[in-house]
Amino acid sequence: MSATIQELIHLVLRWMHLIAGILWIGNSMLFNWLDRNLEKEGSDPNDAGDIWLLHSGGFYYVRKLFAIDRFPSRLHWFWIQATLTWVTGFSLLILVYYMGGAAFLIDRNVSDLSPQAAVLLGIGVLVGGFVIYDVLWRLAANRFEGVANVISLALVGLTAWGLTRVFSGRGAYIHVGALLGTLMVGNVWLHILPSQRQQVAAAKKGELADKALSMRAKRRSIHNNYMTYPVLFIMLSSHFPATYGNALNWLVLAVIMVGGAMTRHILNIRFHTRHWVAMLVSVLVIALVLTYILIRPPSSSAQRAASVPHEAGETEVAPVTFAEARDVVHRRCIACHSIAPTDPLAAAVPAGIHFDTPDQIRQYADRIFIRAVETKTMPMANTTGMSDEERDILGRWYQAGAAIP
Ligand code: HEC
Repeated sequence: MSATIQELIHLVLRWMHLIAGILWIGNSMLFNWLDRNLEKEGSDPNDAGDIWLLHSGGFYYVRKLFAIDRFPSRLHWFWIQATLTWVTGFSLLILVYYMGGAAFLIDRNVSDLSPQAAVLLGIGVLVGGFVIYDVLWRLAANRFEGVANVISLALVGLTAWGLTRVFSGRGAYIHVGALLGTLMVGNVWLHILPSQRQQVAAAKKGELADKALSMRAKRRSIHNNYMTYPVLFIMLSSHFPATYGNALNWLVLAVIMVGGAMTRHILNIRFHTRHWVAMLVSVLVIALVLTYILIRPPSSSAQRAASVPHEAGETEVAPVTFAEARDVVHRRCIACHSIAPTDPLAAAVPAGIHFDTPDQIRQYADRIFIRAVETKTMPMANTTGMSDEERDILGRWYQAGAAIP
């Protein structure tokens, strides 16, 4: 496939993925909000309440009923969005992470997986993860839900940790996200849609829906609700090398996922919780402080001590000339980051950033430092074989002021 066609397919898939995901999650947030704000009068168990809304130049009146006397000629329900989000997401996973020798998935500094093994492992985690989750919750429902919650959280944490031992940080993160996305869409297909179908069949006969089935669907839909914020972070995570490129990247991910799920929880219960603002602020502050502590670079003196051999009492960092730094950039980065990239992995100039001239190297010095020295997430998959000594040269050039002639 030509690089241009691949880029175009990538663009279309990502665009569709975003749109479908916005529709799916937006819808589910709106209905979740509706459910929590319905105003119920009287004690009719069939009537969950009603609500007035203002939008698009008019007033909407919505009432929630469990059974109906007359089946409407048109009933709207939403199933395509979840399916489309997953299908486009999985296609992106194949296109970006599995094709091209799985270059984004494998990091030789982490493990020596072959591309085939990496792809099989990735797919195995999605399938196996869903089976384990589904069986666990079929067994646990109404019996030991508390224990199942703890087991589920521990398994997600363990998966995140395990994947960062074998995949690139970025590949590990995206697989945790893909796993959560798969659980969510699996819940839609195997529990939520069957319950809705049964509900429609019952309503046509003027009967009430099967309570057990709809309880199970409701539980899965609550799980989905808690997974949304963590999944949305992971979708953005490839822009934040300080998170996935960190030595404790699995812990950073765990902190952000728990913080995200707790935020979702507080937003869910806010309608009948007095001190929800204080709770929300506390969770956000704790999560942000923990994340900061985890991703902050080692203090510069510790970094110097670790990277430059020096005599006792010496505090000066060995100077590095621009020429030395430029040689490293040209040796290790220019195959991709050039007006005319030569590396087949670089369909077009990656991220539109090239280092052909001294000015460009100077302009991107901060990002070069973050990607090649601090987080070691560049060169991509270290295809150009950059050594730690070379990273150190860039680091010292940057810390001495990143000057160019
Ligand atoms: C094999 C190709 C390849 C090589 C070699 C490579 N990069 Fe990249 N680079 C990419 C790709 C692909 C992206 C876009 C994806 C991303 O940001 O991870 C990128 C993005 C970037 C970005 C922009 C995103 C940001 O974080 O600001 C910077 C900066 C960067 N690379 C620095 C470097 C440096 C420095 C080197 C050399 C030490 C290097 N790259 C070597 C492929 C490469």
